[in-house]
Amino acid sequence: MSIHISAPEGQIAEVVLMPGDPLRARFMVKKFLTGAELVSQTRNIYFYTGNYMGKRITIGASGMGCPSIGIYSYELFSFYGVQTIIRIGTCGAYQTNLSLYDLLLTDLACSESSYALHAWGLPTESIQAPGIATNKIELTALNQSKSVKKVNIHSSDVFYRKESGIPAIATKYRCQAVEMEAFALFANAQELGRSAATLLTVSDIIPTHEKISADQRETALLPMMEIALESARAL
Ligand code: HPA
Repeated sequence: MSIHISAPEGQIAEVVLMPGDPLRARFMVKKFLTGAELVSQTRNIYFYTGNYMGKRITIGASGMGCPSIGIYSYELFSFYGVQTIIRIGTCGAYQTNLSLYDLLLTDLACSESSYALHAWGLPTESIQAPGIATNKIELTALNQSKSVKKVNIHSSDVFYRKESGIPAIATKYRCQAVEMEAFALFANAQELGRSAATLLTVSDIIPTHEKISADQRETALLPMMEIALESARAL
């Protein structure tokens, strides 16, 4: 048990898949896991542990933003001995060279967030995906004949902003898309000597305002879930 996760010791697997949304976590568990047990529901952030094709894995939500994923990933790594966290989420593309449903694998997470500085004393704006999980995901996608682009991602602290246009940090690091969590996840994994990856589906194209609708989301995210589950099995 940790402050924000009520699972007893031993009830979280070594590999955790982490969507942002608790209901998406529940959807994945119902669709893909066998013998799954709800092991924590503190703050309605559901964590389930079960089996995917013989591999014990946990699926639990991160909530939104660096502070939230910072808390959950820290507690999973530090108090539950988790070795790998694969975040699966959505992102907004900054340019029209990307399309809705494209799959992006985060190479470098870039952020104006002060998370790495204040949590770990790291005065950095960019963190490489730590450990072997990212490489495993690339190989798994290749085996499943799914196209995944490895790119730099902007982990933004804000969803709504006054200025339109691409934020300076995203231009500086040539980030192709924006989400809100990878930077804190990578900071924690790097500093605690664990592995973490962030696989994303493009859910909106920012300059054209195209979006995947709420109805389309469930099926739109299945290819990403399949890659993440199979990668978790291989870890
Ligand atoms: N901004 C931040 N996070 C996101 C976005 C966005 O436009 N789309 C999906 N996740």
